[in-house]
Amino acid sequence: MTDDLHVVVLAAGKGTRMRSALPKVLHRAAGLPLIEWVVRAARAMRPQTITVVLGHEADQVREWFAAADDVRFVIQEPQLGTGHALLQAERALGGRRGTVLLLSGDAPLVTRGSLERLVARRRELGASVVVATADLPDPTGYGRVIREDGALARIVEDRDATPAERAVTEINSGVYAFALASLFDALRGLGTSNAQGEYYLPELVAVHRRAGRVVAADRLADADEIRGINTRAELAAVGRLLHDRINAGLMAGGVTLVDPATAYIGPDVVIGADTVVHPFVFLEGRTTVGPNCELHAGVRIVDSRLGARVTVFNHTVIAQSVINDDAHLGPFARIRPESTLGAGSHVGNFVEIKKASVGEGTKIGHLSYIGDASLGSGVNIGAGTITCNYDGRAKHRTTVGDKAFIGSDSTLVAPVTIGAGAYVAAGSSIVEDVPAGGLGIARGRQTNKPGWATARAAAKDRGR
Ligand code: UD1
Ligand code: CA
Repeated sequence: MTDDLHVVVLAAGKGTRMRSALPKVLHRAAGLPLIEWVVRAARAMRPQTITVVLGHEADQVREWFAAADDVRFVIQEPQLGTGHALLQAERALGGRRGTVLLLSGDAPLVTRGSLERLVARRRELGASVVVATADLPDPTGYGRVIREDGALARIVEDRDATPAERAVTEINSGVYAFALASLFDALRGLGTSNAQGEYYLPELVAVHRRAGRVVAADRLADADEIRGINTRAELAAVGRLLHDRINAGLMAGGVTLVDPATAYIGPDVVIGADTVVHPFVFLEGRTTVGPNCELHAGVRIVDSRLGARVTVFNHTVIAQSVINDDAHLGPFARIRPESTLGAGSHVGNFVEIKKASVGEGTKIGHLSYIGDASLGSGVNIGAGTITCNYDGRAKHRTTVGDKAFIGSDSTLVAPVTIGAGAYVAAGSSIVEDVPAGGLGIARGRQTNKPGWATARAAAKDRGR
């Protein structure tokens, strides 16, 4: 039998130990804010509602979810403990039936599988609460799970525990499935006679048990899933585990990661089979890389789409751009937003491209800046060519027709058009359009002075 499912995420705590102006749950691990990981796990459960309990810096967290219409917020002010935090969700959930799945905004490793099992257990047992627990070699700081005759009796916080209770290694993960019907009344029954003077959510176990309701514990197979984040060191450690999961998925899908420990790939990145990713590559945002590509060491790609068989040499940065099949880039190239590189095009070392389209097979081999430009196909851009796109007030476009040839060290002063098949002589400053099939040459004419240097040297010798 299934019933309605509602998720509540607790995220009102201060996160003091992060020593940060940013709310703890907005710190990023493997590319996403912690709370985004948690909300994604919640969404995978297809719940009726998702409610996030916020306190400090609520606006910043709300801002992150501005585009999401499936997340609602309640404010807990002041913060009087985890039990008090969940009570704030009564406004959003009071009067409903079914199951409440409670998650912590700072614990991003929980998996859908474990959550499904927890919710299923609650339904099977008709329990008022099922607590997800884990065995930790060092349980310090966590609430301990106290069993009587093998059955869950209560949870005692670290600070309130006796030495014997502290020796227990089964801990409260902070993830629970509650029966909604009895939840809020029971929460109102919590007291604050404990070491922190707070309303402790885990105390619900004892409250329900006293009332003769069913309570249970569900041990997680992988204790890593409950890891929460309180410090920057824990943030890094959890980020590492999230990257490991992503990398394992990619490798299973046929991607070669030369050194998975230094492959920093975000959760929304898609990579085709037989692509090779070398060490220290960063793939971020909604990036898609086609099959049979090779991304050399030190490459960073953000929100971009690469076709098949693209080679990106070392230390190239690509942002919000499209790179078509068989293109070659770098080393040390920079592709800035809104650029498109045609199939089989080549962008070499120390080339910057911005808001430009580069046609099929076009080559920009060395030391160039191509901004606000449209280059046709089969164009050759000589070393050191610069588009002068900015006049100090406005940006202007440069257009280069198919198969045009731009000589080295030319400046193309926009707005300007070089016709198809035209040539620009090396070292030209082009300020007027060059007609298709023509030659534009715009540089000082060379004068040779025969014997000049020899005569000068001879004059110097005489002066000695
Ligand atoms: C809590 C549990 C402990 C468990 C551990 C697992 C309590 C009393 N103890 O301890 O048994 O082993 O989690 O990680 O619940 N929060 C609010 N409002 C508050 C207080 C906390 O929203 O007034 C939020 C925090 O932002 C956090 C979560 O609740 O996301 C847990 O609070 P935290 O203070 O970290 O609890 P722990 O001491 O870790
Ligand atoms: Ca905690």
